[in-house]
Amino acid sequence: MLRTVYILLVLIVVSACGSQPVSQSEARKLSIIYSGNLDGELEPCGCSEGGNKGGIKRRVQKIDELKKENPNAVLISAGGLLVSEMPQDRLKSEYILKGLAQLPYDAIGVQWRDLAFSEQFLLQHSLPWVSSNWLNNDFAASKLIQSKHTAVRYFQWLDPASQSVKNMGLALVDKNKSQLMQALAAAKTKGETTVLASTLSLSQLQKEFDLQNVDIAIIKAKYEEFGDPQQVGHTLILQPGSRGMRIAQLDLVINPQGKIKSWRHEVIPLPPEVKDAPRMTQWYDDYNAQVKADYQKRVEIRKAMDSGESPYAGEKVCQNCHMKQHAKWFDSRHAQAFYALQDVNKAFDPDCIACHTVGFEKPGGFIDSSLTANLMHVQCESCHGAGKAHADSSGRTSVANKNWKPKQMCDQCHIQKHSPDFVFEKYWPKIAH
Ligand code: HEC
Ligand code: HEC
Ligand code: HEC
Ligand code: HEC
Repeated sequence: MLRTVYILLVLIVVSACGSQPVSQSEARKLSIIYSGNLDGELEPCGCSEGGNKGGIKRRVQKIDELKKENPNAVLISAGGLLVSEMPQDRLKSEYILKGLAQLPYDAIGVQWRDLAFSEQFLLQHSLPWVSSNWLNNDFAASKLIQSKHTAVRYFQWLDPASQSVKNMGLALVDKNKSQLMQALAAAKTKGETTVLASTLSLSQLQKEFDLQNVDIAIIKAKYEEFGDPQQVGHTLILQPGSRGMRIAQLDLVINPQGKIKSWRHEVIPLPPEVKDAPRMTQWYDDYNAQVKADYQKRVEIRKAMDSGESPYAGEKVCQNCHMKQHAKWFDSRHAQAFYALQDVNKAFDPDCIACHTVGFEKPGGFIDSSLTANLMHVQCESCHGAGKAHADSSGRTSVANKNWKPKQMCDQCHIQKHSPDFVFEKYWPKIAH
């Protein structure tokens, strides 16, 4: 009698688990270290404490540590690494790729912004690029990352509808999803865990893709902070943060079909407490040497161009007639702003100089600390505009920015990226004159 009850009980328990006949012993562990956009942030500027996160040197240090603990961890990036706005961005991009090549990346997705300097630029470095719908054979359509018990296949969709296609002037991508859908289905029949990355939002992704064969989807990066993972059907949606400030690790238990049974997600910030990887010292020194050399070349060109008279006077001239204002300014941090760059050995980096001097890259503006020592730091003319004509005319001619609103002056430099805590009403009283 007792035996029958026991057998019955066992039967009930077994049938309750019937939909997923996987025993614990068949479950496999899989860790994925991932990130999304780096957006050209080779290093954090250090302008504010809140923004002082990320950079390649800390990323290498942290990933070295994580891979030492868990050598099988899969390492992927959903791309969006580069930026192409300023002349120096090409050099910076080159060093970003050189830096990431120091890490054992398994797959890196291609986003439109990464193609700004052409696909050849990306292919110069031996990095595992993936673009599943790029029409030439430049990039792998997918990457299989295998270890003893797990197989992950990484795909990346370059959204043909995004504005960048028009900017590039060429339709180099397959708009049709059928090949990708077939490849996803084929991967699933082999029991691979599929990852599909794109820059689509979650709603766009759901509208455009059948997620049937997608185990993990990486969507458009969120500003700076990672989003919490979301389960949609049996697909786990990941949302990396931008600007390379953080990375994250996803620990999965998967079944023999490569499907997710359970997951744990941890965001790993990269504040200054994460030391710079010593093995990146040479890379960083080379980068700075190049930036400096380029800068010095441009100084020579600027010198030749700037033969005319500068429209800037420099603070000492303003002091003659505005002693009270000058005294107030002199005690403010603006009057030390160039020293802040010198302190971190960045007084030659065009990425930094513009906001820490007067009139950089403008006619007659700051060139370097010996040629234009009178235009170091954030001065009167950083806000009020060029004032030589004003000074020469004893105030009859207005300063250049006479009609600017105060906040408009600050917004030249106190932008989210470099001054995340900026609120005009809080900052102005500290420097009011
Ligand atoms: C868009 C303008 C801008 C750029 C570009 C910029 N900075 Fe700054 N920086 C600021 C502002 C604004 C502050 C003050 C932030 C605050 O206190 O809210 C600041 C503050 C700093 C400080 C802090 C100084 C102190 O006394 O604590 C350092 C160091 C610094 N910047 C270095 C850099 C470096 C290095 C770069 C280039 C990689 C750079 N900055 C690029 C605007 C800029
Ligand atoms: C030779 C004396 C003199 C010098 C040098 C001088 N100013 Fe003035 N400034 C004046 C006078 C006088 C006024 C008042 C004009 C008025 O009220 O019409 C004035 C007014 C201003 C104002 C108020 C807005 C305006 O344009 O009327 C600002 C801002 C200003 N000066 C900034 C500067 C700056 C910046 C410098 C240095 C580049 C400077 N001044 C150098 C004499 C001078
Ligand atoms: C960080 C930006 C900034 C800097 C640097 C700065 N000013 Fe100003 N200044 C302002 C703003 C904003 C006002 C207020 C304008 C207003 O209220 O419309 C002002 C007001 C003034 C005024 C009075 C104008 C008036 O109509 O009463 C003078 C004069 C002046 N500044 C001169 C100077 C001089 C000289 C220096 C350098 C020693 C200097 N400022 C540095 C932003 C700045
Ligand atoms: C040309 C770029 C530039 C402009 C324009 C500018 N700032 Fe700044 N500001 C800086 C930089 C760079 C620093 C950091 C200097 C340092 O610490 O060495 C700074 C620092 C400050 C600080 C000190 C922050 C602290 O916590 O003590 C205050 C306050 C400030 N700015 C207010 C303003 C206001 C208000 C305006 C507009 C009226 C303004 N700034 C316009 C570049 C700028």
